[in-house]
Amino acid sequence: MSNGSVFTDIADKYDRINRILSFGRDQVWRQRVIEKLPAGRLLDLGGGTGAANEVFGDRDVVALDPSPEMLSLNAAVQRTVAVGESLPFGDGSFDAVFSAYVFRNLDSVEQTVAEVARVLRPGGRLGVVGLGRPRSRGAAALHRAGSSVVLPVVGTIAGAREEYVYLNRSLDKLPPPEVLFEDTPLRKVALWRMGPLGFVYGVVLEKV
Ligand SMILES: C[S@@+](CC[C@H](N)C(=O)[O-])C[C@H]1O[C@@H](n2cnc3c(N)ncnc32)[C@H](O)[C@@H]1O
Repeated sequence: MSNGSVFTDIADKYDRINRILSFGRDQVWRQRVIEKLPAGRLLDLGGGTGAANEVFGDRDVVALDPSPEMLSLNAAVQRTVAVGESLPFGDGSFDAVFSAYVFRNLDSVEQTVAEVARVLRPGGRLGVVGLGRPRSRGAAALHRAGSSVVLPVVGTIAGAREEYVYLNRSLDKLPPPEVLFEDTPLRKVALWRMGPLGFVYGVVLEKV
């Protein structure tokens, strides 16, 4: 199963299941990052169904996603089918880029962050909400054991078992955020852990 097709297959159920799996906290985690981003023109990278739209305030939002099925459910006025690794926008054309629950699905984090650095204006910020594993080895093992049982069960109930098995595996795909965002073309402003056992992270980076 490819990274792109998994969301196409579950587009209609995505928001509901995401809310259940996060115990209703997914929007609060998005909000904690969005409040650290400047006003103006914002790119929602991997914006999917537009779950974050209600917390963008009066920003001028461009939603980008490779899945036309996810984007067709997104109420944003400006929508673009594309990938983060190759952004179809000019240099310095955004005040902010936001990306929630997307980075572990990217083909290349390095290429995407380089593209984000290109399209941000100086002083512009990238805010990322991501999922991974808790920091401590014991908590990570506990979380891995739990999610490998819970996610396939939720997937089976939702009629999308294979997709949720993929989502569980993707939690181990990337290094921890403390390593992933250590050396990028952007300056790190803040990085913190959220959620049960700290398996959710927020990071804000700035173009100097
Ligand atoms: C878990 S959903 C998150 C959607 C939305 N950001 C949210 O907060 O609900 C992940 C999204 O990333 C998109 N995606 C997958 N690969 C991508 C890529 N290379 N570049 C940009 N978006 C990608 C998927 O199509 C999907 O809509």
